[in-house]
Amino acid sequence: MDPAEAKNIIITNIKAIPTLPDRMHQVLTLLKDDNTSVKELAHFISSDQAMASRLLQAANSIRFGFSRKIATVDRATVILGVKAVTSLVLGISVFDNFRLTKNEITIDLDELWKHSMGCAIAAQIISDKLGGVDRKTVLTAAILHDIGKVIIDLFFSREYAKTLKTLRNNGLSMAKAEENVMGFNHADAGGWFCDELAFPSVLVSPISFHHNVDGVDKEHELITSIVHIADNLCKRAQIGDGGDDNKNHAINLHAQRLLNLNKDDLEKITGELKKEENVN
Ligand SMILES: [Fe+2]
Ligand SMILES: [Fe+2]
Repeated sequence: MDPAEAKNIIITNIKAIPTLPDRMHQVLTLLKDDNTSVKELAHFISSDQAMASRLLQAANSIRFGFSRKIATVDRATVILGVKAVTSLVLGISVFDNFRLTKNEITIDLDELWKHSMGCAIAAQIISDKLGGVDRKTVLTAAILHDIGKVIIDLFFSREYAKTLKTLRNNGLSMAKAEENVMGFNHADAGGWFCDELAFPSVLVSPISFHHNVDGVDKEHELITSIVHIADNLCKRAQIGDGGDDNKNHAINLHAQRLLNLNKDDLEKITGELKKEENVN
């Protein structure tokens, strides 16, 4: 399929989903409004228990050195900030609402969510080691990095089933199998989707380029490298399942150098990751 055609299908379908729940429209309105307050946002999230608990899980994965768990949505919203929370809530809506909409089971969304949370933790371990990185943005980008898989699963489910078969038979990476079958991959799809919803470029770039760090612009190279390596380490640590069980994907060397991580560092982070309790 021509990627431009696929992009068009995704964008047209997002707008045309008749069942796109009110909640998601509300999230989009909040996301686009620069004046959304912490109080408004916390009130909105608290009205949905499932969403509130996922957000708390995300907030509690953050490593700010708090000794106590973050127990309320208000507190989570203050800590993460309006922009990160709104993007996260939208991501959570995509996971939860699209789960209800899709009729063919191709990827396991619960496992994908675990993989996303694991990636968020790995990304923060890397960021802490590096210093000077905006943790909220890293956390959000890592949680949403594979959102394109959910989008493809929804809009191209027949092609996705074929992709997963190719993946299993040939031991390819998910992105490669997608490219072979569909002509584009989930990073492309996630990027198109988030761009259409006016996500900031600091989120769109790592989502679009986490499997192609060499293709990203200089401005977003660092955050994209963090998400790329975190994704790989999460697979090595076997946290969740992003639909892709090949644990030996090559880490981009340029990304590894940029983050100043040697082989031992990578092993150490993978070990730390395995120990994290709050992933599962
Ligand atoms: Fe991915
Ligand atoms: Fe991933």
